Amino acid sequence: MQLPNYAYFKGEIVPYADAKIGVMTHALNYGTGVFAGVRGYWNEEEEELFIFRPRDHFHRFLNSLKMMVMKNDFDEEKLTQILIELIQKEGHRQDVYIRPLAYMADEIIGVKLHDLQTEVTIFSVPFDRYVSNDTGAHVTISSWRRLDDNMIPARGKITGAYVNTAFIKTDALRAGFDEAIVLNQDGHLSEGSAENIFILRDGKLITPPVSDNILEGITRNTVMILAREELGLEVLERSIDRTEVYICDEFFMTGTAAQVTAITKVDFRPVGSGEMGPITAKLRDLYGDVVRGRLKKYRKWNTPIYEKMLVK
Ligand SMILES: Cc1ncc(COP(=O)(O)O)c(C=O)c1O
Repeated sequence: MQLPNYAYFKGEIVPYADAKIGVMTHALNYGTGVFAGVRGYWNEEEEELFIFRPRDHFHRFLNSLKMMVMKNDFDEEKLTQILIELIQKEGHRQDVYIRPLAYMADEIIGVKLHDLQTEVTIFSVPFDRYVSNDTGAHVTISSWRRLDDNMIPARGKITGAYVNTAFIKTDALRAGFDEAIVLNQDGHLSEGSAENIFILRDGKLITPPVSDNILEGITRNTVMILAREELGLEVLERSIDRTEVYICDEFFMTGTAAQVTAITKVDFRPVGSGEMGPITAKLRDLYGDVVRGRLKKYRKWNTPIYEKMLVK
């Protein structure tokens, strides 16, 4: 993967090579960090890079900091302005992935959350597809279980918690699947390794509720709004049983990285017709237009990067 040229690090934008931390850093040793994953989409017609819902990503990011007792004086607007300045300096003219990361910076031995120093860094890299087979993914139900809210909260994007994701993803890929869906402790579906999930049954879109150990996804929220407002669909938030995906009509995953990824096979069983369904296809197209700023109604979600510069 191409490395960034710059990073926001210790309060300023510096060359990426200077954004370094010591090996004793608390977050590196104990997983005490939180992060966000934001995307920027290049719009060729307007020669503009649009960042998708940055303030909502930063809102969730700050909530993750709150859960982890991480002290800071950032707010959504301040973080968005730093992000704009950083991306302008990088000068990307293609789709990008942006990673804000807050970490416990003390170089000490001792596991705890309180009385530690928080640092925030942001960097960005060019980015294309996350799930390579995003029009017809074959997923498995993972033998791993999703972390419970009383272990490490899934609604926070906590760095240490992503070891759970890594177990799920590695075993799925090595077994030849494109992704895995992971169950809660109680056996209901929670989400993909890094995606929320939706099924279509009897014309209704169904997604697990926020109390089923999911990340409260921004793409999930976007898709729920688009499904209701643009397709007139009923969208339910309720627990999903494992065997419901064997008999549903459509199944897809959502995420900043995965966007809207169609699932057409679960553990060798075809989903619906075995091809991407019409509702999934419509939501994929709608989402693709919305993130690139092509739908006026949703332009409030697109933060332009170069508009404010004198020379494009
Ligand atoms: C565990 C997990 N679930 C779901 C998502 C999707 O969330 P979002 O749509 O906000 O990117 C992600 C990605 O950030 C994730 O890591």
